[in-house]
Formats: sequence, C-alpha cells, structure tokens
Amino acid sequence: MYDTKGTMKQFIFDRLVDRENLCNLTKEKDQFLHLIETKSNVVVYAPRNFGKTSLLKNIVIDDFRKLNKKSFVFFADLLGVKNLDSIIGRLMNSFERSFNESFPVKNIFENIKSLLSMLQPEVSIDSITGNPSVSLGISADKKEYTISYVFQLISAISKKIPVLIVIDEFQDIVRVDEAQALFRSVFQEMHNMPVILMGSKRHLLGDIFSIPDAPLYSWGIDIEIPSIPYNEYQVYINDRFSTKNIHIAYDEAVYLQNLMHRIPEPVNIICQQIMDIYDNLEITKEIINNSLKQILDNRESRYEIQIQGFSETEEKILIELAKIKTIEKPQSKIFIAKTNLTSRTIGKIFDKLLQIGIIEKTGTYYRISDPLFMFYLNYYR
Ligand SMILES: Nc1ncnc2c1ncn2[C@@H]1O[C@H](COP(=O)(O)OP(=O)(O)OP(=O)(O)O)[C@@H](O)[C@H]1O
Ligand SMILES: [Mg+2]
Repeated sequence: MYDTKGTMKQFIFDRLVDRENLCNLTKEKDQFLHLIETKSNVVVYAPRNFGKTSLLKNIVIDDFRKLNKKSFVFFADLLGVKNLDSIIGRLMNSFERSFNESFPVKNIFENIKSLLSMLQPEVSIDSITGNPSVSLGISADKKEYTISYVFQLISAISKKIPVLIVIDEFQDIVRVDEAQALFRSVFQEMHNMPVILMGSKRHLLGDIFSIPDAPLYSWGIDIEIPSIPYNEYQVYINDRFSTKNIHIAYDEAVYLQNLMHRIPEPVNIICQQIMDIYDNLEITKEIINNSLKQILDNRESRYEIQIQGFSETEEKILIELAKIKTIEKPQSKIFIAKTNLTSRTIGKIFDKLLQIGIIEKTGTYYRISDPLFMFYLNYYR
C-alpha cells in the first residue's frame, strides 16, 4: 500500500486529493504552469467534484511555490457569497491568510513591509514566533474601494516577487449587484500578474464570461477539466485494488464510471466500498450494483436530512427527475403531467435547484448533479 516515498495510495473522498492520489490531469497541470509563467488570465471550468481545487491547491500552487521560493500566492474562495460585505470579508481574510503563509521568513517580510506601508495595512511581528502577520482594518463606508484596495496590496507585492492569484467558486459573485463591474475594473488595473478564476456552475460562469453585455465578457483563457479517460481510471483503480488482490476489467470499469456520470468522487466512494467488503476476486457489474446499494443504505440519514431541506414541490420534481435521469425540456407536457405542477412552477424550481447546484445542465439536458443522490431517490422514493 505504501510506495517508495512512504506515501499511501488510497481512494480519497470528502476532501481534497493529495498529489499521490490525483488521477490524470498532468496535461492540465503543465498547461496551468505555462499560463502562470506567461502571466495569463485563466477561467477554469469543471463540474462539481472533478478535482479543480485539488489540482490548483495541492499541485499547481505547490509547484509554483517550489519554482519561486520567494513568492506570494493569493487564494480566495467565494463559495456562497451573498453581498458585497461577504465578498470583501472573504478577500480580506484570504489576504491575511495568504500573507502569513507566504512570508514565514522575516527578511522577505521586511522588504515587503516598506511597500505595503504606503497602503497602510496593520503589519506586525509575532513576539513569540517571530512570524509576520498583517491585518486589514477597513471602514464600512468604503466598500467599493475595499476590493480594489486588496488588489492594490497584491500589486505592490508583485513589484518585488512573483505573485499568483487564484479565486475559487468565482461564479457566486453573480448574485451580488456591482460585483462583476468592480472585479472588472480591478482586473483591468492589474498587470503582470497571473489570475486564475475557478467555478463549478457552468451556467453562472457563462453569465459572467460569455454574455457580450457582461462586464467580464471574454476575459481570460478558458480551460476545461475533462473527464478522466476510462482506461487511465481503470489502471488507477486496479493500482489500489491490487493490495486486496481485487481486479476490475475494462468493461466493468467503464460501467462503473458511467454509472457515476464519470465524476471521480462517487467513483472513489464505490471503489472504497468494494475494498472494504471484498478481497481476492474479479469485479462484476453485480458487485458494483450491490456496493452502490450498500452505500445508499449507509448514507440514508445523510440523504434524508438533505431531502428535509427541500419543499414538497421541490422534492416531487427531484423524485420525477431521478426516475427519468435526464430531461431536455422540464416544462414539457409529459413532465407537467408526471409532476402535476404548472409549467411556471417547474421553471422556477429548476432555476433554483440549478442555482444551488442540486441539478446541473450538461449540453442540452438537465440532471441531478450527484449520481448517488439520484440513485437514492430512485430506490427510496
Ligand atoms: N483526478 C482525480 N483523482 C482522484 N480523485 C479525484 C480526482 N478529481 C476529483 N476527485 C475526487 O473528487 C473529490 C473532490 O475534489 P475537489 O474538491 O478537488 O474537486 P472540485 O472540482 O474542486 O469540486 P467542487 O466543485 O465541489 O469544488 C475528491 O475528494 C476525490 O474524491
Ligand atoms: Mg472546489
């Protein structure tokens, strides 16, 4: 189970994947490092649980730091921001944390301090650890100014050392009036700094970057994280299965990946379940199906709590959608008949469920984003 470096090969889920356990994505990694080198602006799109954050945080940022011993990485996550205050709060916290992570050494900090002092953040050295830290005190009446202030600080730092800016779940700014325009003016002012914006809700990212009237229209280079090729995932799975003398053939590996919509996290969950139960065998489709049922049993209370969060009509729509798996036109006569709801209600609820990521639109059709949840609704409702 341990390789020569003493790290362990595992099926990871519910958390970020470390370098050792991230399957594939080496081409994307090289692409990112090149775009950072050329100080490009990048928009990264991939559906939920495709490994975006793992790739960026645990590999790309890590490599950037190794390549640039003295550097500053600004990483912010905007998941669920609802107003300008929450965006500002996230950016300021991220700046403070990024600062502490990037300047653990006093002499680099001394250099930076003089630059920053013009912009007047509160900088200090911890008397016990000797580590520098920064805190940004900002008054509530200067909201519009604050976003640009944070980026001015980063710009100031970039005059001394290489800087990388990564913002995760960027699409969530669409809910906030003015935010797109504010970010646009900030990004226009910044030069010679690579900026990577990530998101998992394609329709929202599209609203930001693909609508001609939108402030950030056609900003940056698009990178899409593709599905892992079937055979590569099969090798990855067998690599881990082999410790229990389990093997999965190509056809069964394809079946398993398709069953989980080729989303790595639920594939890993099923594989772990198989490893927990079996040893010394060749995996069949029946074993895959049984393992799926066991997972749904184990997760019953988790899904029931999730279902309680939905209204009755939302639940009805989800149950019908789970049955038919995908739908192109939710407001069609057939679906209206199945749900016994008006076209207007269905439209509204689809919008909401799309917005919160419970359902997703791939190509021209909608489906429940989490295949495990979809199967749960199918078996238990
Ligand atoms: N390339 C991969 N190899 C192995 N596991 C992966 C890979 N990509 C994703 N996963 C699985 O997906 C889970 C989530 O990874 P991560 O949080 O990096 O994805 P994400 O795309 O940022 O998701 P989200 O959209 O929810 O932010 C991991 O815990 C792991 O189970
Ligand atoms: Mg993520």
